[in-house]
Amino acid sequence: MAKKKKIGFDILIYDSSKALKESDRTLLEKSMEARGNAYAPYSNFQVGAALELENGEIVIGNNQENASYPSGLCAERVAVFYAGAKFPNVAIKTLAISVQSKNSEVLEPAAPCGNCRQSLFEYEHRQKSPIRILMMGAQGKVVECPSIAAILPLGFDNSYL
Ligand code: THU
Repeated sequence: MAKKKKIGFDILIYDSSKALKESDRTLLEKSMEARGNAYAPYSNFQVGAALELENGEIVIGNNQENASYPSGLCAERVAVFYAGAKFPNVAIKTLAISVQSKNSEVLEPAAPCGNCRQSLFEYEHRQKSPIRILMMGAQGKVVECPSIAAILPLGFDNSYL
């Protein structure tokens, strides 16, 4: 007889970034600034990420594409690797992500891709505290998730190694 167990989490949905507390609004604005500088000539899909660290620093990233497509990197990994390189022992509190496309109006917030979730999970697991995620489309509603682990259920970490 198998035991059934539900895994899931609650998200918060804000009508607009105006409903956020000031530090979150600032972080989201930094991600919007970063997405404008994304190098995305192939997809025309620009992603900005901004991390708020425990020491008050904000680290940004944006997607960097390449003529050899798989050689490019997503905004979230550019940001988290930059944070790991510059502030190796400082915990990450919040990740803000915003997206826009030059081809169409994206109003639905975009969650990090699977590869980014795994990369981000490494840092969350290492620091032993959750990284909150704020996501927004080109404008409009904002979705908040409580942690990386929540969006990567049954995630793989170094406890298996
Ligand atoms: N992209 C990101 O930067 N983050 C994601 O989580 C999803 C996708 C980028 C990769 C590529 O440059 C473009 O968006 C289209 O996939």
